[in-house]
Amino acid sequence: MANITFTSPIMHGPKTVYAVAGDTKTILAVAEEHRIPIPFECKDGNCASCLIEVTYDEPSMRKGITLTEKEKAKLRELGKISSKEIEDAEVLDLPPRYRLACQFIARDEDVTVAFTGEPGGA
Ligand code: FES
Repeated sequence: MANITFTSPIMHGPKTVYAVAGDTKTILAVAEEHRIPIPFECKDGNCASCLIEVTYDEPSMRKGITLTEKEKAKLRELGKISSKEIEDAEVLDLPPRYRLACQFIARDEDVTVAFTGEPGGA
């Protein structure tokens, strides 16, 4: 079970929801299920409308990730991932600060997901 706290200036306040560990839902799917208005278009890692900023409530508990080439390329194109973050992702499997909500699978760590409400505006 993971706590996912969504926060945005377009929401009345932060909202925490629970995701089942081992589930394969993306953060975007969890958000939709709970009527949290993260913008999206393609749901396939192409448009970057669903850009989010992710903070790990317990940074030392960050889980290894598989950052897909598509997500990495899109984040690089947007200037939302540094060379150090790319290296950390490739070598240490550490997740970067910005993600695409449609590509990020909820895991069992507690996270805060911030978005502006503007497509691609995190
Ligand atoms: Fe298009 Fe996520 S909805 S990249």
